[in-house]
Amino acid sequence: MTFPKNFLWGGAVAANQAEGAYLENKRSLSVMDVVPLGNQRCAIKQGFIDYRTVDTESAYYPSRTGIKFYEKYEDDIKLLAELGIKCFRMSISWTRLFPTGIEASPNQEGLDFYRKVFELCQSYHIEPLVTISHFDIPLYLVDNLGGWRNREMIAHYTKYARVLFETYKDLVQYWITFNEVNVILHNSFSGGGLELMGKENISQIRYQAAHNQLLASSEAIRIAHEINPNNKVGCMLAAGDYYPYSCHPQDVMMALDKNRESYFFIDIQCRGKYPNYAKRKFEELGVKLDIHENDAKILSDNTADFVALSYYTSRCISHNKQDETASNLMTSVRNPYIKSSDWGWQIDPLGLRITLNTLYDRYQKPLFIVENGLGAKDALVDGFVQDDYRIDYLSQHIDMVEEAIKDGVEIIGYLVWGVIDLVAASTGEMDKRYGLIYVDANNKGEGSFKRYKKASFEWYKNLISQK
Ligand code: BG6
Repeated sequence: MTFPKNFLWGGAVAANQAEGAYLENKRSLSVMDVVPLGNQRCAIKQGFIDYRTVDTESAYYPSRTGIKFYEKYEDDIKLLAELGIKCFRMSISWTRLFPTGIEASPNQEGLDFYRKVFELCQSYHIEPLVTISHFDIPLYLVDNLGGWRNREMIAHYTKYARVLFETYKDLVQYWITFNEVNVILHNSFSGGGLELMGKENISQIRYQAAHNQLLASSEAIRIAHEINPNNKVGCMLAAGDYYPYSCHPQDVMMALDKNRESYFFIDIQCRGKYPNYAKRKFEELGVKLDIHENDAKILSDNTADFVALSYYTSRCISHNKQDETASNLMTSVRNPYIKSSDWGWQIDPLGLRITLNTLYDRYQKPLFIVENGLGAKDALVDGFVQDDYRIDYLSQHIDMVEEAIKDGVEIIGYLVWGVIDLVAASTGEMDKRYGLIYVDANNKGEGSFKRYKKASFEWYKNLISQK
C-alpha cells in the first residue's frame, strides 16, 4: 500500500462559495458579497473596478446565496460521512464572528454555528481543516482601512485567529492561515481587499499587503502553537508550475521568474526570510517595503508546519506571442500536448507529480493537496449525474499523487475541491461544477437546492475504502 494508513482523504469547500445567509445572525458584508456575476466580476476581484459603481438593482451576487450550506450543513456533513471522507476542509466567514472586523469580542451566534459544524464532524470522525481567510475580508476593513495594504489589519486578523484557536481548541487541529496566499498578486481585491483604481504603484501596494499578510500568518502560527502545541498550521499556494514553452533559454528564464513569483510567498513562510531574488525584483518594480524592526524575527521564528496547495493545471510561458488560455488565477500560453476543460483550464495530471516533487525538493515540509478537481458542466438526468469525465480527471490525478509518494514526497492528504457543487470563484457560476454531490441551483441562485449523488460519489467512496 503506497498511501499511509492515516492519509487524509477528503473534500473541500469555502464559506464564501457555500454558506449563503449573508446577513443572518448579525453577519455583515465581506469582499466576495459585493462581487457580482457577469462581465465586471473579474476586474472587481482584481481591484480594477470599484464595486460601488455596480448597479445593485440589476446585479446578482452569487456568494450571498452560495449553496445554502449555512442552512443545510447537517445534511451535507451527513452525506460527506456517507462518502467516507476522513477530512473536510472549510473556511470560517470572518464577518460571522466579527461583522466589521474591529469589534473587541466575537459574535456568539457565529461561534455557535461553527461549533455545531465541528462537533458534527467529530461525531462522524471527520477531521476538519479550517482556512482562516478564504477570499474573506470584512468589507468594513476595506472601506475604512484600505484592506491589507494597512498594517493595522494584522491586529484585527490575529485577534480573530486567536478567538478561533481558543474556542475550537478541542475540535480543530489543522489550520491554513490564508487560502492561496499568492492570489494577492492577481485577484488583489478578493485576496487582499485592495482597490487599485488610483495612480499609485500597484506592485508597491500588493507587496506591502503581502508583507502584512505574511506577518499576520506568522503571528497566527505563533499563537496557534502557544494555545495548543498539537496545532498544525499550514501556508497555502495556488500551485501549478510554469513550463517553458520551448527550450529557448529565454523561455526557461521566464518560467523560472514566473515560478518564483509564486514561490516567493512560500519561500518566506517555510524558510522564514525573504529570498535573495526579491531584492532585484523589488528594485525593478520600484517597491520599497515598510518593514519594522521585529518583522524579520517574527517571520523566522514562526514558519509553517506544512505546505498546502491547490492544483488544477500546469501553466506555460513563452517569450514569443502564443495562443493563450484561461487557467487558475493566471493566464497561460496554451500547451499543445494536453487537453483542456470546458473552461479552458488545461488538464495535466503529470504536472501534479512534477509540482509535488518541486515543492518537496524546495521545502522538505509535508505537503497537503487541499484542492484538486474538475469544473465541468453536468447534466442531471432522473436525479443522477453520470460524470465519468470527473472520475477520469480525479483518478488520473490521484495516480500521480501515488507516484509522488513513491518518489519520496511526504503527503498528508488529498481533498477534492468543491466536493459539493458550489459557486465558482472565477466566474461566479453554479454551472461550473466540481462536486461529487450535485446541487440543484442555477447561475442565478434559483432552484430547489436539493442534493443528488453523482457517479463520482460511489467511485470516490470505493477508492477511499480500498486505498
Ligand atoms: C481556487 C480557490 O483558486 O480555485 C477556490 O481557492 C476556487 O476558491 C477554485 O473555487 C476553483 O476555481 P473556480 O474559479 O473554478 O471556482
